[in-house]
Amino acid sequence: DLTYISLFTFAYLSGSISTAIVVCRILTLPDPRIVGSHNPGATNVHRIGGTKAAILTLFGDMLKTVFPLVAAIYLGYSTAFELIWLGVSGLLGHCFPVFFRFKGGKGVASLFAILIITVPDLSLIALTCWLIIVWSFRRSSIASIATAIIIPIFAYQFHSVLFIPLLFLSAVVVLRHKRNIANIIQGKEPIVGHKS
Ligand code: G3P
Repeated sequence: DLTYISLFTFAYLSGSISTAIVVCRILTLPDPRIVGSHNPGATNVHRIGGTKAAILTLFGDMLKTVFPLVAAIYLGYSTAFELIWLGVSGLLGHCFPVFFRFKGGKGVASLFAILIITVPDLSLIALTCWLIIVWSFRRSSIASIATAIIIPIFAYQFHSVLFIPLLFLSAVVVLRHKRNIANIIQGKEPIVGHKS
């Protein structure tokens, strides 16, 4: 219906606001698209501006993804299936933002935000997985890719209704890490937190 279509559009537009670019501009840090990994995301903002700037970016990116879903809940959409597709729209906005020539981030913060609202148990598993892997390998990208891979596996087992949208979300996140994957293979992927 029209309300859902409006929410879908709103989710894409909200997702298109790049928190990394906004935070770096406000804190007079260099544009994350031209330094470090060139990615407008919390990991790269961490390289450029440190922990506080990274946390701001992470929360901003999560909030912009969650907000349309919360609005949808208020408007009476209550099933995880209805909500998750709004999340898909938001994550696509983050990765391909209309406001920034369709060059956006990798969708990790957005994916976590979507999980928290639609499948909270899986969000805890995903967070645990991400933290263990980042602690073991010291590369944010390895943690993000591995987590994106385990999400549809768990979904298939325990949340089969959400399997297709979660598989799609994870696939987008993994594909957005193309350059990281090449770097990992070549042993060039930077350690988390290190200035590039
Ligand atoms: O969240 C994105 C992360 O997985 C990789 O970021 O900047 O190291 O390419 P980056």
